Amino acid sequence: MGVTGRQRFLGTLHRDPSVEGHPVWLMRQAGRFLPEYRELRSRHSFMELVHSPALCTEAALQPLRRFDLDATIVFSDILEIPDALGMGLSFTPGDGPRLANPLRESGQLEGTLGSLDYVYEAVAQLRAAAPGHALLGFAGAPWTLYCYMVDGEGGEFPLARQSIRADETRAKAMLDRLADVVADHLLAQLGAGADTVQVFDTWAGRLDADTYARLVTPGLERIAARLAEHDTILFLRGADQLSRRVGRAKFSGVSVHAGADLAAVRRELPGWTTQGNVASEILLGGDIEAAVRGVFDATGGAHDHIYNLGHGVVPATPPESVSRFVNAVRALP
Ligand code: CP3
Repeated sequence: MGVTGRQRFLGTLHRDPSVEGHPVWLMRQAGRFLPEYRELRSRHSFMELVHSPALCTEAALQPLRRFDLDATIVFSDILEIPDALGMGLSFTPGDGPRLANPLRESGQLEGTLGSLDYVYEAVAQLRAAAPGHALLGFAGAPWTLYCYMVDGEGGEFPLARQSIRADETRAKAMLDRLADVVADHLLAQLGAGADTVQVFDTWAGRLDADTYARLVTPGLERIAARLAEHDTILFLRGADQLSRRVGRAKFSGVSVHAGADLAAVRRELPGWTTQGNVASEILLGGDIEAAVRGVFDATGGAHDHIYNLGHGVVPATPPESVSRFVNAVRALP
């Protein structure tokens, strides 16, 4: 009787030393590197996919049909929150996301949040369709959302960073309000059947640790406190001084970007399961088996690490590379 991917993933997140094998999934595992996703996208816009629970389920299941993965993540986007706040999200091909009404006045954040029920329905449908996989819900972290919400598009986020310098009190009020919106969104996904939730602070590294600790950490502490009964994973991409940045916030796991020293992160955040750390570029033609072995060595083979990339799969990734990555994890002792 084999263990399910869901048991392997959750056992590892709970740091259960008796768990069999090592769990593996990939950030952005549903998406453009898969021909079947590109086929789906030739018939539907990204926004149509995200608003249709049935199409979200199909997109999330595509990688599970090809690869021996332990987890699935609901097909959605971090920018659904700004969209639900009335900011007018659109995606232009090759140009990334754009918000038509970026946040210039604090007033906009006092507006009510539109319904995100389509996300919770997508979680419920995926739960039923993939009972043996760990199911992740997710949200953008307050700081990463703030970046997109102030600038209205990706890039260096000059306006977001300038607005913090101009008025810390106002910025902190917005970040605190976003923390509550994010916690509500995560709790609703857990209520709909998600096993755990991941908070993506993709742009954490754009803020120095002092400013982050002063303005952003209180919101992370609030999210962690409101989700204390649940399993949670925090992704602080590109950030140094992790223990200062998390403050008193305790998440079950930390997702580690590729530049970080995994063994050092594990010493810095004792009691946290780690995830990730393999460079996405390795899947474009590097020694995949050696990279997986490197993670095994850095973790001493312990059953408190979830194998994953340090960031999302890039669209140019050959699907065969993902198979090799998963097989390399399966071959570990
Ligand atoms: O398997 C999965 O992970 C799919 C679910 C998912 C998407 N976005 C779908 C998506 C998740 C977890 C995200 C998170 C997300 N979205 C983040 C945080 C994680 C990270 O990668 O740093 C961020 C910063 C975004 C914002 C976003 N969404 C950008 C910048 C872009 C355009 C650039 C890009 O990478 O594609 C998107 C679009 C997007 N979100 C796509 C997908 C599958 C591609 C859309 C398409 O099909 O054209």
